[in-house]
Amino acid sequence: MKKIVIFASGSGSNAENIIQYFSQKPEFCIKKIYCNVPDAYVLERAKKYHVPTCVFTREEFRNPDKLLHQLQAEETDFIVLAGFLWLLPTCITTAYPNRIINIHPALLPAYGGKGMYGHHVHEAVIAAGEKESGITIHYVNEHYDSGAIIFQASCPVLPTDTPDTLAARVHELEYAHFPRVIEETLRTK
Ligand code: GAR
Repeated sequence: MKKIVIFASGSGSNAENIIQYFSQKPEFCIKKIYCNVPDAYVLERAKKYHVPTCVFTREEFRNPDKLLHQLQAEETDFIVLAGFLWLLPTCITTAYPNRIINIHPALLPAYGGKGMYGHHVHEAVIAAGEKESGITIHYVNEHYDSGAIIFQASCPVLPTDTPDTLAARVHELEYAHFPRVIEETLRTK
């Protein structure tokens, strides 16, 4: 059985969608949700599905040997970043080459990099007058949003869009594709 852990910082709607999807797949197991925000809603969602959680501090993340050891002790095969907003430490990206994937709510390489997350991305896309946005699923390396791209899907940006309406359209793409792309990627490993 392949063991997946999810890192998330916020609401966790993608994390919940992934948990639901893989609950129907006996060859995969969502082992744990790692979270850097003690009151993030993703922790409530995890509880609902009886998925264990681990909340860590900035300090623990800056000295990540223990975290890495824990991931390895749990025999983690694959790490999924689902709305996780800190840059992963190099010791973790090095220990899991091509085994960490992230979803980004825009068409990388545009609108990526430090500070480009969640509503900031959608605000920038609308401010630039883009006609199209979308999602990018990519491998994670030691830099923000720059690992090899695995999958992209696009959606229109409408003249009437606000960051919230665009975020909702992008979220629908995330829900439709992210779990399947995780599964297909893991099956190649
Ligand atoms: C998602 O739209 C995801 O693409 C984005 O955060 C949102 C989390 O939503 N990630 C980034 O911006 C990473 N740079 P969720 O907590 O409801 O899954």
